[in-house]
Amino acid sequence: MSFYSPVRTNAAEAASDEKLHLFTYVEDPEQHTVKRYEEHGGYTAWKKVLADMKPEEVIEKVKNSGLRGRGGAGFPTGVKWGFVPKDSPKPRYLCCNADESEPGTCKDRVLMERDPHGVIEGMAIGSYAIGCHLMFIYIRGEFGHCIDRMEQARKEAYEAGHLGKNIYGSGYDLDLIIHTGGGAYICGEETALLNSLEGEKGLSRIRPPFPAVEGLYASPTIVNNVESLAAVPHIINRGAEWYKKLGTEKSAGTKIFSLSGHVKQPGNYEVELGFSLKKLIYDEHYGGGILGDKKLKGVIPGGASTPFLTPDMIDIGLDYESLVEQSSMLGSGAIIVFHEDTCIVWVILKLIHFFRHESCGKCTPCREGTGWLEQIIRRIEAGEGRKGDLETIEDLCGNILGRTICPLGDAAVMPIQSALRLYREEWEYHIENKKCQVKSHYPFK
Ligand SMILES: Cc1cc2nc3c(=O)[nH]c(=O)nc-3n(C[C@H](O)[C@H](O)[C@H](O)COP(=O)(O)O)c2cc1C
Ligand code: SF4
Repeated sequence: MSFYSPVRTNAAEAASDEKLHLFTYVEDPEQHTVKRYEEHGGYTAWKKVLADMKPEEVIEKVKNSGLRGRGGAGFPTGVKWGFVPKDSPKPRYLCCNADESEPGTCKDRVLMERDPHGVIEGMAIGSYAIGCHLMFIYIRGEFGHCIDRMEQARKEAYEAGHLGKNIYGSGYDLDLIIHTGGGAYICGEETALLNSLEGEKGLSRIRPPFPAVEGLYASPTIVNNVESLAAVPHIINRGAEWYKKLGTEKSAGTKIFSLSGHVKQPGNYEVELGFSLKKLIYDEHYGGGILGDKKLKGVIPGGASTPFLTPDMIDIGLDYESLVEQSSMLGSGAIIVFHEDTCIVWVILKLIHFFRHESCGKCTPCREGTGWLEQIIRRIEAGEGRKGDLETIEDLCGNILGRTICPLGDAAVMPIQSALRLYREEWEYHIENKKCQVKSHYPFK
């Protein structure tokens, strides 16, 4: 039996606002069927692409739209597609990254469960753009309901002629393989994902070569996030100019934010990039304010690997540039809110425990450093901190940041560095008084 996520969405708003598009139909209980998807205009973009567009025109259109990857790094999607070598004799592959393991992130899950054909259509268009005839979707193994829905959608897409041989009589063949992961966070990192798809251990690869040049089975491969690909049919249908006008100048389009933690109405909200973080947390249509009407203590804005924001920093737009200006990142768009009773040392302990556990162990700074960090932070949290511990933590973080094979090392230390900078007194209180100064160690009460 698989579990369906009853997560709150702003689909009603999306249905009446023509700028929002990813969530327009996600509350329709039949949207996951090919019949309903087609009734809502589904697969028209794929038909249009195969009938009227050359691959390079598709790439150009996606480039012009300003779409940037929604998996975390925000790299321009069309530019990435353009990196696939045109003269390579090898097959090309497209892998949709549906591993979604970043703590706090649960947006791709909703798209796959409730609008799986939208994901398949985006993947198909991306595949055509890079000359791929075999595409993969790598789904987090724990997402039983997504896997069921994607398998059903795949079957229906073949039966309806959207996938398979000579699609719509165009002469283009395209197949889809659904692959389920084994529950490792690192397998969301694109090169570890490719190793895992090949049946190897999920260890990250040293780059270069980048996957676009040498990826799956040493062939040119594009790895894209579910949300990035789901935006593509809308760009084809409504045009690059329409998409570019959404959001801000450098952060085009809409984004789904997964809002969790101490808010009254946690959920997934699709908004234009640049939308106010404060409004998302406090507005009655979104987060609805802080649980128990308590004071806000801090926010992690883009998933567990992004630096904290303090209450005076939340009056900003949710876009790639504004968050960098606040020394943080948009990441995967998972916003975790903490109220005044939260022990920041406890939060950091939970995070470093996660990253230490999920480190693939290939490089020394991450493998050893995350373990040492966890030991020291656990000691401080337990009231056994020592003088000099904070300096040792800082030194360790400095020796991990930028010195690892993949960004998991950076992800592990950036929240710690920001917590030390922004909540220093709380750490010092823990060490000096051998106890915590806030009421609860459990932030989700
Ligand atoms: C440790 C780690 C975990 C990641 N997990 C995911 C994930 O679950 N889903 C995802 O799309 N990207 C994840 N990424 C980012 C991918 O490596 C890659 O950048 C992304 O899938 C590219 O797609 P995009 O350009 O459409 O964003 C992760 C990166 C790291 C370093
Ligand atoms: S940074 Fe960590 S997860 Fe990434 S390759 Fe090194 S050991 Fe593995």
